[in-house]
Amino acid sequence: MSLVAAREAPIPAAAIRPVPEGQGRPAGPAASSAPLLCVRGVSLEYCTRERVVRATHRVDFDVFEADRFVLLGPSGCGKSTLLKAVAGFHPPVEGTIRLNGQTVRGPGPDRIVVFQEFDQLPPWKTVAQNVAFPLRAAGLFGRREAQERARRYIDKVGLARFADSYPHQLSGGMKQRVALARALATQPKVLLMDEPFAALDALTRRRMQEELLALWEEVRFTLLFVTHSIEEALVVGNRVALLSPHPGRIRSEVNSHQFDLGSLGSRDFQAAVRRLHDRLFESDPAPAAPTGRS
Ligand SMILES: Nc1ncnc2c1ncn2[C@@H]1O[C@H](COP(=O)(O)OP(=O)(O)OP(=O)(O)O)[C@@H](O)[C@H]1O
Ligand SMILES: [Mg+2]
Repeated sequence: MSLVAAREAPIPAAAIRPVPEGQGRPAGPAASSAPLLCVRGVSLEYCTRERVVRATHRVDFDVFEADRFVLLGPSGCGKSTLLKAVAGFHPPVEGTIRLNGQTVRGPGPDRIVVFQEFDQLPPWKTVAQNVAFPLRAAGLFGRREAQERARRYIDKVGLARFADSYPHQLSGGMKQRVALARALATQPKVLLMDEPFAALDALTRRRMQEELLALWEEVRFTLLFVTHSIEEALVVGNRVALLSPHPGRIRSEVNSHQFDLGSLGSRDFQAAVRRLHDRLFESDPAPAAPTGRS
């Protein structure tokens, strides 16, 4: 497996700017002109006993096939809630989420989430059983096919020697690789990742980013990735949506397809980080909050 193989051609230095429609998207047969995922005017709320918390306010974005689309924003701006909404676990109070033209009304095997936590794998199943289980449970494959497919994806994430190990015998990074193999093996329409590397040490985190990009080169899955790290957003994404602080609204979208791990430390990359940082932390007029809501 080649790590971080050829990416799209670099674009000129003024890297951080709003992206005109159609730019910053992967070229080639996988790219299509209609969005795969269409989020329109989505407001999300939590009702607690004391009050209603508005997590996001009228959020719009489109994700195209084979995009690596990143939601970047400060803690509490509603990134995880947005991901849960796309996964079908949290219905919007206004707006719509469409996948392939169909309104999302609940969870489905076409959307798989990889979380930050290392304990997302049932501990009583081996690595191979963990990866094979959803393939069987969703009725996608028979036992033999599911096992073969699981081994293939375990191999892709470099864990062939650990196929018969149990989660407690693995490091945090290895567990995240299993979660990634398990998600990709089901070939979801969109892979949803919520800060999947945030709990890893810096070196492992960088390796996981590298491996994710290498897997994307190989499989060309569609990725919706959440992070509050500006560097990670620029490296992992080809498009980055910036969210304002609580309640989250889309501030702007930038094109980041020209950056990869090799760009870290370069002048262009540092300038892009600085501009995103300034954009993220500049103040915004607060939206008119509905009465009784926070
Ligand atoms: N179960 C809940 N009940 C009530 N409010 C909630 C709940 N979960 C989240 N919130 C609120 O919704 C808002 C958005 O939360 P969310 O977890 O989506 O933010 P986030 O951007 O993912 O933050 P972080 O980067 O810290 O993970 C926050 O103000 C949070 O306090
Ligand atoms: Mg979160």
